[in-house]
Amino acid sequence: LYIIAAVRTIAVINQKGGVGKTTTVANLGSALSAMGLRVGLIDLDPQAHLTLHVGIEPGQPAVGMYEVLTAEAPMMEAMIEVSPGLWAAGSSIDLAAAEVELVGTVGREQILCDRLAAGLPFDVVMIDCPPSLGLLTLNALAAADEVLIPLQPHFLALQGLGKLLETVALVQRRINPRLKVAGVVLCLWETNTKLSAEVLADLRQFLAAGRDANAPWSGARIFESVIRRNIKLAECPSYGKTIFQYEPASRGAEDHVALAREFAAALGLAPQAALPAAQAPADAAAPAAEAPPPAPPAAPADAPPAPPSA
Ligand SMILES: Nc1ncnc2c1ncn2[C@@H]1O[C@H](COP(=O)(O)OP(=O)(O)OP(=O)(O)O)[C@@H](O)[C@H]1O
Ligand SMILES: [Mg+2]
Repeated sequence: LYIIAAVRTIAVINQKGGVGKTTTVANLGSALSAMGLRVGLIDLDPQAHLTLHVGIEPGQPAVGMYEVLTAEAPMMEAMIEVSPGLWAAGSSIDLAAAEVELVGTVGREQILCDRLAAGLPFDVVMIDCPPSLGLLTLNALAAADEVLIPLQPHFLALQGLGKLLETVALVQRRINPRLKVAGVVLCLWETNTKLSAEVLADLRQFLAAGRDANAPWSGARIFESVIRRNIKLAECPSYGKTIFQYEPASRGAEDHVALAREFAAALGLAPQAALPAAQAPADAAAPAAEAPPPAPPAAPADAPPAPPSA
């Protein structure tokens, strides 16, 4: 098993439902993997939409995020390679029970962080969160380096954003000092509508007004690459395919490639050299070295994601 020094962990969060979180994790993740980054996706939503999106049957793998969070299963045992360089750890409805089961556990917000601390063989880990600010989302915030906020330019889009940023600030102060907001990505964008333009202007003002040097969102940007509304993006999850496997020539694919380039540049993401895993301590009481991850099943689709065009 090889691990790398620094995995960048990105929590994709908005407690508002249906704004494009899962679509962003699946397709931005896939586009980043096509750029040569090793990408691990984590489905932290009991709805298991990301799991389905990447072609994993929820509850089918013996180890999923429920087992990782409640039964101390190593993170890599849940990871399945779904296309070259793109791995995903699935969830299932069981995960809703984890939220309840873990309530009485000391350090319950830090379980995911502990599981990731062993090191993972990825450059980037992206966590898809449920539409709430509950314990699962807090675990994502405690484990993340950066938060990415998908936002739908809807007339109530900014409602709830203050609460989300407050929660990020609280987790940063109490649990995870390195936490930052990378920025906002506008999803389900309607080109040339007055509403989209207005929401964008309001968002600029909102971020500028709340900006002070100590806030975790002081460096937050609004990504210029917006994800336009595109029917192919809505269709591909039901085939268990990313947009690059389903319709690589679509606008949805084009927008995610552009976002991936902008995102990687903004965050300074680059493939890192793999380092050999640290030796297990020579302590007799130490458990045997971790077993290698199970052989990945065949990728769900024949075509790997299209490499971004030059
Ligand atoms: N750019 C887009 N164009 C068209 N449809 C989209 C686009 N982005 C997302 N959708 C569709 O909108 C719905 C909501 O998107 P998605 O599941 O990504 O949101 P979410 O924030 O993850 O939702 P939830 O809060 O339920 O987890 C889905 O049916 C998805 O396929
Ligand atoms: Mg979702």
